[in-house]
Amino acid sequence: MTLSHTSVSKHKIIFDTDPGIDDAMALLLALVSPEIEVVGVTTVFGNSHVEATTRNALNLLELAGRPDIPVAKGADRPMVLPRGRTGEFVHGEDAMGNIGWTVVHNPDRRPLDVSAAQFIAETIMAQPGEVTIVAVGPLTNVALALQLEPRIAQAARNVVIMGGSVATPGNVSPLAEANIHNDPHAAAAVFGAGWDLTMAGLDVTMAVRMDEAFFGALRRSENRLAQFIARIVRFYQRFHRERYGYPDGGVDTHDPSAIAYLIDPTLFRAERWSIVVPLDGPAMGATIADRRGFFWTTPKVNCLMQVDAARFLDMFRARLTT
Ligand code: RIB
Ligand code: CA
Repeated sequence: MTLSHTSVSKHKIIFDTDPGIDDAMALLLALVSPEIEVVGVTTVFGNSHVEATTRNALNLLELAGRPDIPVAKGADRPMVLPRGRTGEFVHGEDAMGNIGWTVVHNPDRRPLDVSAAQFIAETIMAQPGEVTIVAVGPLTNVALALQLEPRIAQAARNVVIMGGSVATPGNVSPLAEANIHNDPHAAAAVFGAGWDLTMAGLDVTMAVRMDEAFFGALRRSENRLAQFIARIVRFYQRFHRERYGYPDGGVDTHDPSAIAYLIDPTLFRAERWSIVVPLDGPAMGATIADRRGFFWTTPKVNCLMQVDAARFLDMFRARLTT
């Protein structure tokens, strides 16, 4: 089952994340969107180590006026591979664009006593058929939750990930996207679980470019969340200019794409393919889409292939500036 724009009731989501500049954009978009209720945030290593991504999650919720949303701290390393390099070179030393976030701003706020994997498993099992996982970092917490409680594969409403790619080159190796490459064993478990899984991969996330004109509109608005995004994105803009030569302050729109899909699936065109993830070698962490039906026993994934970029950007800007 995939989402139909007209028939979808409000999405209760667990947002599994490694914030991260684009993670912050995605979370803030979710929090201002009436179609979405964030029931918890779970954190993982990726754009930085998990202490920093957890601090950032707590601070983002505070900034958005949602300290009521629980945060559960998750994995600080992949399931099998040794720890690798984290993403401060893309997101800044604080993973928030070098704005100097070194502490949790509200000293009364701390993560829950349960792990992210426990939180995911318990929350889904408490409300079968109700809760969607939106995972926009390495898939370690989600795979650990599957190990703890395999029945979540039937009890989750949907899973939407930002990660992978069908036909677009990788962003951390010739074939692999960062979130999958950071923990390919976890990704293989998540793709193989047989649940209703949508992949917002590089095919769509690199086809939507936010640029300086876009961020200028956020900066000039009176919405302080929009102004915050315009502030943290500077470092990310520099990375995209130096790494990809993007002009005009352009950046890819990775993690917000997963939220945009829940808000309005008609923004995207999808195809259903089985996905296999190589666990070693030069293709490690790639998402090989079987477009000829060889892996016929492997579960099919709803792969987002095309996006209406202009309509997506209008939607994002309208939601964050009004
Ligand atoms: O490849 C893009 C992904 O890697 C995004 O989720 C970004 O936040 C980083 O984690
Ligand atoms: Ca992310």
